Amino acid sequence: MKQFHGIVTGNTPISSDFLEMTFTWDNSAGMPVPGHFFTLRISGDSVPLLRRPFALSAFDATNGAAVMYQRRGRGTALLATKGEGDPLDVLGPLGRPFPLPEGRKALLIAGGIGIGPIAFLADTLAGREIPFQLVIGCRSAPLFPATLRLSGLGPVICTDDGSLGFKGTTGDYLRSIEATIDRDTVLYACGPLPMLRACHELAIRRECECFVSVEQVMACGVGACMGCAVKAAGGGYLRACTEGPVFASRELAWE
Ligand SMILES: Cc1cc2nc3c(=O)[nH]c(=O)nc-3n(C[C@H](O)[C@H](O)[C@H](O)COP(=O)(O)OP(=O)(O)OC[C@H]3O[C@@H](n4cnc5c(N)ncnc54)[C@H](O)[C@@H]3O)c2cc1C
Ligand code: FES
Repeated sequence: MKQFHGIVTGNTPISSDFLEMTFTWDNSAGMPVPGHFFTLRISGDSVPLLRRPFALSAFDATNGAAVMYQRRGRGTALLATKGEGDPLDVLGPLGRPFPLPEGRKALLIAGGIGIGPIAFLADTLAGREIPFQLVIGCRSAPLFPATLRLSGLGPVICTDDGSLGFKGTTGDYLRSIEATIDRDTVLYACGPLPMLRACHELAIRRECECFVSVEQVMACGVGACMGCAVKAAGGGYLRACTEGPVFASRELAWE
């Protein structure tokens, strides 16, 4: 992990509310793998003051890194104005990444800002010829990232309004295939909390492992402030930035 200056190589809209930014990565900081995140100091001014955390959506040692991000507040609105050649203050790679399924079937589930890290995991599994199924949920067709439709990762798309793919949430879809999920399956999920909870409960019912990446609001991003604490199953707290953001779902308290 290291702080370095990356250079923006692209920053383009990929759906009605997501953009994808590509940028150079200093390989001496370490090579990110799926589930790793980085933080960005987006402005040289005091607003926004804190670095913002983002998961990587792609990385290769030659072409650099990518992030899919949603415009939410001041920081991401500023990020959307960056163009080719602009410098980026990057700190990474950070956190605990996704473990590989080790001979088991992988079922990947993503929604919202979880789509980027899960797409990176799918791409990595495809590159290693590890079988997986990818399920992506969004509210409506215009929110679905166009790049993913063309990626060859063959996602099952779920939309709340039925405007694209399966009509219903990822939870509805998972219920429809629940009988095919067994101990030989590993679930990987990133997205809104209700989606993560549904995946955890499914893993308990089907007696399989489930890894979730939590997108807790963070302050320092490096384990120093407890600003990202999540409740642990056995009592006490875990820091999402250092002990996570990827956790075995059974490590967490789901109340
Ligand atoms: C490990 C990790 C990985 C992340 N990966 C991605 C990613 O790949 N793509 C992406 O678009 N975003 C990602 N996020 C969320 C991202 O950090 C926030 O969207 C960003 O910090 C918002 O900054 P802002 O200044 O635009 O918004 P702010 O003005 O800070 O906030 C705007 C709104 O967004 C909410 N918000 C801020 N941070 C978070 C958060 N972490 N989770 C949920 N709601 C939040 C605030 O409560 C507020 O309502 C990730 C967060 C974490 C912790
Ligand atoms: S954000 Fe400070 S400890 Fe995790």
